[in-house]
Amino acid sequence: MCGIIGFTGGSPALPFVLSGLRRMEYRGYDSAGVALCGGSPAKIEIRRAVGNVSALEAEVAAAPTDPAATCGIGHTRWATHGAPSVKNAHPHLSPDGRIAIVHNGIIDNYAELRDRLAAQGHVFASETDSEVIAHLVAESEAPTLAERVMWALSFVRGTYGIAVVSADDPGMIVVARKGSPIAVGTGGGASMVASDPAALAGRAESVAYLDDGDVAVLTPGAFEVRSLANTPVSRPCSPLDIDPASVEKGGYEHFMLKEIFEQPEALRNCLRGRLLPDDGTAKLSGLRLGPRDIASLSNIVVTACGTSYYAGLHGVYAFEEFAGIPARIEQAAEFRYRNPIVTPDTALVSLSQSGETADTLAAVREAKRKGALVLSVCNAVGSTIAREAGRGVYLHAGPEIGVASTKAFVCQVAALSMMALLFGRTRRLSGTEGRAFVKALASAPDLVAAVLARNDEIARIAEKHAAVRDAFYIGRGYQHPAALEGALKLKEISYVHAEGYHAAELKHGPIALLDENVPVVALVPQGPDRDKMLGNVQECRARKAPVIAIATEGDADVRSFTEDVIEVPPCPDFVAAIPVVVAEQLFAYHVARLRGEPIDRPRNLAKSVTVE
Ligand code: G6P
Repeated sequence: MCGIIGFTGGSPALPFVLSGLRRMEYRGYDSAGVALCGGSPAKIEIRRAVGNVSALEAEVAAAPTDPAATCGIGHTRWATHGAPSVKNAHPHLSPDGRIAIVHNGIIDNYAELRDRLAAQGHVFASETDSEVIAHLVAESEAPTLAERVMWALSFVRGTYGIAVVSADDPGMIVVARKGSPIAVGTGGGASMVASDPAALAGRAESVAYLDDGDVAVLTPGAFEVRSLANTPVSRPCSPLDIDPASVEKGGYEHFMLKEIFEQPEALRNCLRGRLLPDDGTAKLSGLRLGPRDIASLSNIVVTACGTSYYAGLHGVYAFEEFAGIPARIEQAAEFRYRNPIVTPDTALVSLSQSGETADTLAAVREAKRKGALVLSVCNAVGSTIAREAGRGVYLHAGPEIGVASTKAFVCQVAALSMMALLFGRTRRLSGTEGRAFVKALASAPDLVAAVLARNDEIARIAEKHAAVRDAFYIGRGYQHPAALEGALKLKEISYVHAEGYHAAELKHGPIALLDENVPVVALVPQGPDRDKMLGNVQECRARKAPVIAIATEGDADVRSFTEDVIEVPPCPDFVAAIPVVVAEQLFAYHVARLRGEPIDRPRNLAKSVTVE
């Protein structure tokens, strides 16, 4: 959730650290800080500020650090323990000010550690759990910084990604990981660390991802990885395949808008080489499943959080409809604690854009423990969930920076659709049905492009409703998850209270809230549910609720009762959710823009939720 960055090399560290923090601001942004280590004799200087990285830059400009310091670490925070404040912002120092640490994660036994240290005379400057790590490292009498960190971590229970610098070891950064991602890289004679490899794009020539229990020692241009027991371990290095342009705004006002407009390309990348039009099936090599493996599956459990959960619900419908495999969705936190029934012929499909969501990761581990076949659908290459699952499908959507997920959702739907097709063709779909499926899914990028071409129209509709306080989204079938996702988009970025419902559920309570001030976004594209949906829309109109319809181009019936229609091209219902959600994304985006909200960094939210 928070972001960690670090640099040690032959050039000033501060510019790298600040620009890395800017790239990771979306992970947490209530406060930020840097620690620079340099000078002769070496000392540590820290600067911290409440707010985003610009506030930190202003702080550094007002009180400059040694510009020649070539080693530094930085942090952008999403508060858990202790409110956002300068004293709670990272880095945290040891009592003598010679050690600085940044930490992501939660130290579960921090109170106990703090009490023990306080009894020995330690005075703490913050309310955070993280500060105990700096104090513990300072207590160690081990000969090297790495060993002092290992010693300190031996007392710690909880999750961490940490980076540590010491004025006694200038030019060295020690990093460690347990449950919170850390990537280390080298390039241009420097070494660097980041909790998100996107921060290293264009800078690191190669990167390695630490596993839980790893400690890495970075010196300029090199790093070595050791276990917590101080034995050498080898982690594969690979070139960093992230285009630096993909983590910049590229002329768009917001990352979210850029990512909405990237969706045709993201979908093309996701589908490329995987759809087999002649055979009417899909090739998903990363699943490493042969026909007999697929034939022996008896049920599928999809698990995820947030937007990924809604994409997962779409997948459940597709698995049952096309593959004939009983499927259900389980909120990942429930899966981890509910002790669900998993058999050896259960496939657990874990969906996560970031591949780092704590509850989804815990569900993966629990499912593995129970002997399920675990498959991941992730966007972030090399992420923990993807690596631990060992089998899966990468989205290839490119880095997603805007906190509200957009292109990951449509690619998740596409990836799950391809899985449903592959499973279906192995089990019960005919070649003809498979070829029709391929044709429909292959059109998704063009369907999305057609919706993007209506951006101005959607902005005009958003303008009419920008002052709204409450809204409902309703849909049936594949448009049910789309309704849930549409409502989530609106509430996340515009702070409008919005609820998504199955259209049939509206009568069971929520309809009591409808009046002329509560618009209903009705998802009514052509398909088996359209006529029933029109009936539900009439129920809303009878309560005077304004209706915003997302409907198939040229649907005169819909036009007859509302002028606020966003049209999507004709397509089968299982694909229609993709352009429908894109229309919802643009609607939410424009409402938030007109209300002046900070679209890429909505209050209280973080891109990657690495605490439970
Ligand atoms: C956070 C993000 C959401 C995202 C959810 C799950 O809440 O703000 O946009 O859908 O986490 O994230 P994941 O990376 O697992 O898909």
